[in-house]
Amino acid sequence: MRANIRGVLWCTIWCYCLASSQANLYKGYKVYELPASKARSANLDFMLSQLANNRTYYDIYTSGSQTGAPAHIMVHPEAQPQFVALLNEQAVNYKIINNDVGHTLRSNYERNQMLRNLYPFEGRLSTERYYTHDEITQYIENLAQLYPSRVFIRTVGRTYEGRWLKTIRITNGDRRANKNVILMDGGFHAREWISPAAVVYAIGELVENYETYADLLLDYDWVILPVVNADGYVYTHLSENTRMWRKTRQPSSESCIGTDPNRNFDFHWNEEGASQDPCDETYAGPKAFSEPEAIVVRDLIKSYAKVGKMYLTLHSYGPYILYPWGWTLDVPDTVEDLHEVAQAGYEAMFNATGVEYEIGPSTEVLYVAAGASDDYAFNAGFPISFTMELPPGGQSLFDPPASDIDGLVKEAWIGILAMARKVVEKYPLA
Ligand code: ARG
Ligand code: ZN
Repeated sequence: MRANIRGVLWCTIWCYCLASSQANLYKGYKVYELPASKARSANLDFMLSQLANNRTYYDIYTSGSQTGAPAHIMVHPEAQPQFVALLNEQAVNYKIINNDVGHTLRSNYERNQMLRNLYPFEGRLSTERYYTHDEITQYIENLAQLYPSRVFIRTVGRTYEGRWLKTIRITNGDRRANKNVILMDGGFHAREWISPAAVVYAIGELVENYETYADLLLDYDWVILPVVNADGYVYTHLSENTRMWRKTRQPSSESCIGTDPNRNFDFHWNEEGASQDPCDETYAGPKAFSEPEAIVVRDLIKSYAKVGKMYLTLHSYGPYILYPWGWTLDVPDTVEDLHEVAQAGYEAMFNATGVEYEIGPSTEVLYVAAGASDDYAFNAGFPISFTMELPPGGQSLFDPPASDIDGLVKEAWIGILAMARKVVEKYPLA
């Protein structure tokens, strides 16, 4: 009887593994690296924009920056011969940076499971592994219990699938009201796991080492939402096949799911750089603020519009510090202020590790993408508003190995700190 149960169990596990390995969606997919946009011919640019329409075969991870970073494109096995022929025809210098995305995702998935067992959640978070949405929520709630005079949790909304979204407000405990605010969020895009990891690290630092950051908590409170797109984030933890999900999880048409939450804001909504196709990765949604998660961020931005001095949304991958505008090539009148703060972040990180974040207006550095939260916050009154894109990592680029988390989030924190210090100096309490 026992042996029988064991047999059934083994078969279940074995069959499950077999099934999931056979169903490896990204088996044989490769990622190609092409020159930065600036170095490309008009021909090649046009070709890439055409390929982007063919979602079954091509996934443009990044189209590359104008100033230096290369483009990365994931290509379906069946399309690879044709793609390479095209590149050769145009004499493009390409590199294959991932030979089998499916294999990478599978082994990362297994490693993440292993690390989860090795480092079970015990109320505190470290940089040893990636954490789930539940663990992150539990963590900030624990902090509020441990430090009830300095740390406050507020439930700010629910996701499409019904998960509660909670912010953590970090103060120095002096109970003074009407302080300025730094508003920070992570996890807009589900697969960008290093973003919530960096946010969580920032929270830990501000709360546990608050004396070190007394200057940043004197006239300022920090309000932080660690995982905006919680449904998407949970989905990317399910299996190697869902790891590359970007959008929300609300169905967008009969056959497709999800809206790009960072194209869903009602500021030049659905203009350039946003798609009307519900199956696209940059789908703007059926209307502005169709996504409950975007509404949550909108309401946070609005409620801090007067006292909010910096809005910082963390994404990957860059590395970039991007400032408005992202909907037009024009730059705001206050571009010098934006640049000054970004520059402080750049220099601090460069001096610490030698990393070189590209800094500049979104549209100029990267691409035009209307309807994003950074432009919305800037327009709502935050004088400083940045999208910080952490560096790529791992063979699938959105997936720095767990062993890289520590370095990446500490480096990012050095930049965030330097920017916050500049903000505190430039925008004293009125
Ligand atoms: N990678 C980000 C995205 O595509 C960049 C957003 C930059 N901001 C902007 N307003 N375009 O969503
Ligand atoms: Zn992103």
